[in-house]
Amino acid sequence: MKVLVIGGGAREHALCRSLSLDPDVSALYCAPGNAGIAEVAELRPVDALDGAAVAALAGELGADLVVVGPEAPLVAGVGDAVRAAGIPVFGPSREAARLEGSKAFAKDVMAAAGVPTARSYVCTTAEEVDAALDAFGAPYVVKDDGLAAGKGVVVTEDREAARAHAAGCDRVVIEEYLDGPEVSLFAITDGVTVLPLQPAQDFKRALDGDQGPNTGGMGAYSPLPWADPKLVEEVLETVLQPTVDELRHRGTPFSGLLYAGLALTSRGTRVIEFNARFGDPETQVVLARLRTPLAGVLLGAANGTLDALPPLTWSDEAAVTVVIASHNYPGTPRTGDPIEGLAEVAAEDGPEAYVLHAGTRQEGDSVVSAGGRVLSVTATGQDLAQARERAYKAVARIRLDGSQHRTDIAAKAAEGR
Ligand code: AMP
Ligand code: GLY
Repeated sequence: MKVLVIGGGAREHALCRSLSLDPDVSALYCAPGNAGIAEVAELRPVDALDGAAVAALAGELGADLVVVGPEAPLVAGVGDAVRAAGIPVFGPSREAARLEGSKAFAKDVMAAAGVPTARSYVCTTAEEVDAALDAFGAPYVVKDDGLAAGKGVVVTEDREAARAHAAGCDRVVIEEYLDGPEVSLFAITDGVTVLPLQPAQDFKRALDGDQGPNTGGMGAYSPLPWADPKLVEEVLETVLQPTVDELRHRGTPFSGLLYAGLALTSRGTRVIEFNARFGDPETQVVLARLRTPLAGVLLGAANGTLDALPPLTWSDEAAVTVVIASHNYPGTPRTGDPIEGLAEVAAEDGPEAYVLHAGTRQEGDSVVSAGGRVLSVTATGQDLAQARERAYKAVARIRLDGSQHRTDIAAKAAEGR
């Protein structure tokens, strides 16, 4: 099978790494990719938002499957363009990707499907915003309706900050605050059959102790030793399957990866958000534990044949990933700084620990930073404590001027808290 992966972050590096280890994959391409992905896949330049260009590239390469990593191409209809060219695509149509592209649409689908989520109001005027803030009280949760790379949400006790964020958006969703731990649960679906993956936890805030601004994600781990073993089954029944069924009944079936961001509140499990693609950095830890070769599963979703697959198999090991970000991330990051220590990690820490690249670029003989999140240092171990120790040992070898990372990824869970 010839596979083309679209994207160039650590999620795509994780996807490419797994696909490169799959004996069914005879050729692997990634567009545009990054310096790390170049070690496992052949890179091609492409404008990932241009459906015609992606379809043409897939045709030229003779791809049997196109895997679209990020949300922006999906929301732009890249999946539709490739599918129209007769090439199987892992990733939903533009219509179905609205589940991520519009928070208001996602709320409407959840209401129709009876999926538990925070009560909310969609607001377009300052008066509506004030009324919604009053209705729910503090802490205030204000979400930009459109795509914002995980940075469009403000959760604050400060009413003025909540109003200011709303004033900067065309349309916002204001909702009740959900307490309790968060879980990311992914499912692979062909629009009918839904195969949940193992749950993971993401660390969204920039700083240790969940302080600082929201980011795309600063680290993740899986499994969740503290979670109810029935969680996956419960979420499949109450969230994932009803959502997939609702979209199919609307005539806009969802195939690809359905990502449920959940809050386990004192009043039960609630959906915080849906995404229409693999999460980053959770994918790095989920795929580290998946034993079933990946390509056949993604192709089954693209072709509508998931019901014919045997159950997925998983490693008992734990996985932890720590994101190394540029100076000033999640603000405008500083880029172009050389990254050192990559070869040392490969020589000293592999295969249990390895570096997945996000924003990196090859410049002559050196690899330099090229984005906000730069690397996702991933490790496996017999338990979270060991995976964590291995990941941080590898992190300590990396040198990137001005970089930042959290030191507490999976710390509480590893201690059984
Ligand atoms: P989202 O982009 O919707 O995932 O929101 C980003 C982050 O904001 C989430 O991971 C939560 O940490 C936080 N958040 C979003 N919605 C809520 C809510 N209703 N209550 C509490 N925290 C929330
Ligand atoms: N890790 C959060 C996301 O991928 O949206």
